Amino acid sequence: MKILILGNGGREFSIARAILNEKEAHELFFMPGNGATSSLGTNLSIKDYNELAEYAKANEVDLTIVGPEAPLVDGVVDIFKSLGLTIFGPSKEAAKLEGSKVYMKNFLAKYNIPTARYIETSSIEDAFKFADTLNAPIVVKADGLCGGKGVIIAQNHDEAKVAISEMLSGKSFGDAGLKVIVEEFLDGYELSMFAVCDGEDYILLPAAQDHKRLKDNDEGPNTGGMGAYAPTPLVDEALYQKVKERIIRPTLDGMKKEGAPFEGVLFIGIMVVKGEAITLEFNVRFGDPECEILMPLMTSSVSDMFYKAATNRLGEIKVEFSNQYAVGVVMASENYPYSSSTPAEIIVDDVHHEEIAKYTHISYAGVSMIDGVLYADGGRVLVCVGIGDSIKQARDRAYMRCGQVHFAGKKLRTDIAYQVL
Ligand code: AMP
Ligand code: GLY
Repeated sequence: MKILILGNGGREFSIARAILNEKEAHELFFMPGNGATSSLGTNLSIKDYNELAEYAKANEVDLTIVGPEAPLVDGVVDIFKSLGLTIFGPSKEAAKLEGSKVYMKNFLAKYNIPTARYIETSSIEDAFKFADTLNAPIVVKADGLCGGKGVIIAQNHDEAKVAISEMLSGKSFGDAGLKVIVEEFLDGYELSMFAVCDGEDYILLPAAQDHKRLKDNDEGPNTGGMGAYAPTPLVDEALYQKVKERIIRPTLDGMKKEGAPFEGVLFIGIMVVKGEAITLEFNVRFGDPECEILMPLMTSSVSDMFYKAATNRLGEIKVEFSNQYAVGVVMASENYPYSSSTPAEIIVDDVHHEEIAKYTHISYAGVSMIDGVLYADGGRVLVCVGIGDSIKQARDRAYMRCGQVHFAGKKLRTDIAYQVL
């Protein structure tokens, strides 16, 4: 197939890598891609979605896969579909599950899907009043997309009120904060679960755990994710069943009733509290770096799964996963997550060690290619992935690979998967 992938991260690299490892040959295009995807296919620079759809049509692209949330929330899927193109991702309406936390929370409440007790409001008095009924810590969320920064865990009531005021006044997040969610704090452990959906049917991938804080022991500021592993033994069959019956099924049925059947990746942020799975949030795309560890665990065709999902035929296929584990360790630039960093040349040692060559790989994200040299370009630069028969073996292999990657200012956590080791 000719496949176009939207996005420029490690997530998109890992999808491409999995597709290129299939038996059938595929031709890949990226918009915009990064300095390493150019060696997997053709990087495009067509920013306008209408023009991009025209390009896909003219070049007979068979399938488009959308990585990040922004194009989905902007309606790229609707534009491609209006030209009769096959595209994997939710419609603009269905992407509201991520684009608006108010929409998401009200949807969860309407369909009785477990979530934290909350109020959604644009009234400062109502927000304060509700906050006063909660014990600290108190969670305050801006309604709209804020690049992952729109959630404040306030340690006391005063802090919560400052967060509420600054959001509602537009000071913290502009229009994205003009409505807020105030909700109870859930104390438990967090999981990332991903269901590939076709509007009706779905395939649940192995549960993963992300590491959002920058530093070891979950210290330092929040990031997009510094590492992940899967499958996590923190989920047993009973918990998978609960997630399916109480979260995924009612979500797919509910979205159909809302007139916005959900196609694409439903990313469920879950807090497990006393054995119950509570929905923290929905995203409408793969997590990054979770995608980088889930793709290599798939033993059946990844492109076929996306294609069947995009054509409402998931029921026809059986998706298979390896019985191994994957651990991904993110390497970020010096100033991540605060500011950009000076580009730094990346040197990857030649792999002579058979174990490393066979059981590890790199998914590239924030990199650029200049005159054949790869540079770390800021943000999260790459993910070293290790595969193994146990989480420990996968983790050790991922770190072996990390030891072979060099660039000035490189930053990584040394404790990925600590929760289960
Ligand atoms: P969200 O973008 O809604 O997933 O929030 C970002 C992060 O904030 C989550 O990954 C959790 O770590 C944390 N968080 C969000 N809501 C809650 C909550 N109600 N209780 C505890 N932690 C939360
Ligand atoms: N790793 C979490 C996310 O992609 O939002």
